[in-house]
Amino acid sequence: MFTKKTIEDIDCNGKNVLVRVDYNVPLVNHRVVDTYRVRQSLPTIKYLLDHNAKIILISHLGRPNGQPDARFSLEPVVNVLSKMIGTKVIFAEDCIGEVVRKNVDKLKPGEILLCENLRFHPDEEKNSIVFAKELAKPADLFVQDGFGVVHRAHASTSAITQCLPSVAGFLVKREVDAITEVMDNSKRPLMAIIGGAKIGDKLDLIKRFISLSDVVALGGAMANTFALAQGHKVGNSLVDREELPLAKDIIRLAEKEAAKRPFVFTIPYDVVVAKDASSKSKTRIVDWGTHVVADIEHYPLRVPDSSSVVGAQEMILDIGPFSGSFIAGSMQLVNTVVWNGTMGVTEVEALLGPIGPFAHGTELIIDALLGQFGHRPYSLIGGGDTVGYIENRGLVEQFDHVSTGGGASLELMAGRKLPGVEALQDK
Ligand code: 3PG
Repeated sequence: MFTKKTIEDIDCNGKNVLVRVDYNVPLVNHRVVDTYRVRQSLPTIKYLLDHNAKIILISHLGRPNGQPDARFSLEPVVNVLSKMIGTKVIFAEDCIGEVVRKNVDKLKPGEILLCENLRFHPDEEKNSIVFAKELAKPADLFVQDGFGVVHRAHASTSAITQCLPSVAGFLVKREVDAITEVMDNSKRPLMAIIGGAKIGDKLDLIKRFISLSDVVALGGAMANTFALAQGHKVGNSLVDREELPLAKDIIRLAEKEAAKRPFVFTIPYDVVVAKDASSKSKTRIVDWGTHVVADIEHYPLRVPDSSSVVGAQEMILDIGPFSGSFIAGSMQLVNTVVWNGTMGVTEVEALLGPIGPFAHGTELIIDALLGQFGHRPYSLIGGGDTVGYIENRGLVEQFDHVSTGGGASLELMAGRKLPGVEALQDK
């Protein structure tokens, strides 16, 4: 249960409210190409507007290294937010100082002020109390609703709470509730599907799921390092040789767990390979064949030119169809699935249609999660690449909970405290 005060626990009527959001959204040519985080901030903003509050939104975007940089301006968000909420959004060219004060004074009822990128000031990431006091000046209250950034102790997540009464917005509450409920109290059996590039980034998460869940399936580029650890040739694939010992430790840990209780740990045993990650590449399936009958007579559907070795010039770009089917099949037997990280290089566009040549493993998981094979488990999805992919496919609203936080959701799932939440007032 969420133990912090929320905007419903305080009087925000007619107050100047400083709201930390996470509008760290992808931009292409100054255009917002994924609006999920902005949409998820609307319930808190609407509630505050309904309570006649003057709203001052603050956020970061990207990593501009503590100095103004037009490529990281939040200005492109103004129109997106204004259209979504149906009210005027005014842009302040800084997040502190005269420009903010003047704009707040001019703000008419129902209007919103969005301030320029917090990270244009080096003091933001230094968690400076002096900077936090500047941010706090025009406000009576602080609302933390930037779930994606609450794992950082920055001025706008931590020091600010020493300057103003500080409570959570609806998004932060919803995210924390959804994730802790799954980790502490999920409907079993529980399955974790984990992809992404680096094992190190998700080490604690993988370990926690090995001890907590019933099935752990790995995919994405990190699985290449596991394949290497198991002695397979991986050609030109993205691998992190420094992480080989980590992969071996995890395999041993999983084996120990499986010896103690019914537990399945699976690493892809077939993969899609090509010489380069492009829409036009000729793809091949390589089957490491630990359990699949390899000869054509026994396995007539076997792809004719597949072999059991990734060539020196080839790279692994997706999980293979057998591994995908095993994962999708396992999902028919569990009641909760936590999914973090795509299974392949989903960003390579298709020559025709919406599904790229290395997105089939990821698509199979989506189909299974949405109940296409009969059973529909509860789904909790996190991670920037996964969420970006399902948002682009227009499917994001169809899952049970899709987190706006990459790092923040990982930290919470791994059992760590979130500084930006801890610092808020207790109920
Ligand atoms: C995110 O996108 O994960 C958050 O906005 C945090 O961004 P950061 O990793 O640059 O702090």
